[in-house]
Amino acid sequence: MKIDVLTLFPEMFESVFGVSIIKRATDNGLLSLRFVNIRDFSEDKHKRVDDYPYGAGGGLVMQPMPIFAAYEHLSEESEEKPYVIYMSPQGKTFTQKKAIELKEHKHLILLCGHYEGVDQRVLDEIVDEEISIGDYVLTGGEIAAMAVIDATARMIPGVLDSEDTFSHESHFDGLLEYPQYTRPPVWREREIPEILVSGHHARIEKWRREKSIEITAKKRPELLKTAPLTEKEKEFAKKFLEN
Ligand code: ADE
Repeated sequence: MKIDVLTLFPEMFESVFGVSIIKRATDNGLLSLRFVNIRDFSEDKHKRVDDYPYGAGGGLVMQPMPIFAAYEHLSEESEEKPYVIYMSPQGKTFTQKKAIELKEHKHLILLCGHYEGVDQRVLDEIVDEEISIGDYVLTGGEIAAMAVIDATARMIPGVLDSEDTFSHESHFDGLLEYPQYTRPPVWREREIPEILVSGHHARIEKWRREKSIEITAKKRPELLKTAPLTEKEKEFAKKFLEN
């Protein structure tokens, strides 16, 4: 999978993705990540990429030409049209489901805006989807793009050590994850749940599933409305909702 980011601040991405799991994925060729400076595509002699907005109002708006030129340059390399996402507080809120969906694209382009925004015409021309990472406004789309890249990349088969790693984690099956423990077995008089050292695989699985339901009911009860629970599990969840 190939992900290109169109940004005025490519250096913001280098350190974030130059370490750990995403670095290993790019080194192994599972993912190609590029951070493309929109300013490099400006034809202005001062490399300007923004200008004053038409109508009243302050601030600067990113011009359409450099963004479109960068987009065309990246598109020419691809056999199929890249899927273009504009990072924006106006977009649909990013979810785990969306990350799983995005990993299917061969070539993604994430466009990061700055200043007061981006000229609407280039958005109308190239953008397939707008994505927000939450109902608050960031100074630019870069931090949002990082969240989308990280969550999407770890869903690509082979990026994590084992696909098991995410089949139990929070949000994968609509529930939050059960609690995890490691050594030592007793810490500050707190013991690990006995069941985990029982060796009964099936009972441990049942305990984990019940803990997932309990934690989801207590912390994010609204998730239970769409989580795939059996009738018996729905009854079990009620115990925690009523409290
Ligand atoms: N750009 C500014 N705020 C944003 C947000 N909440 N999500 C995505 N992109 C943004």
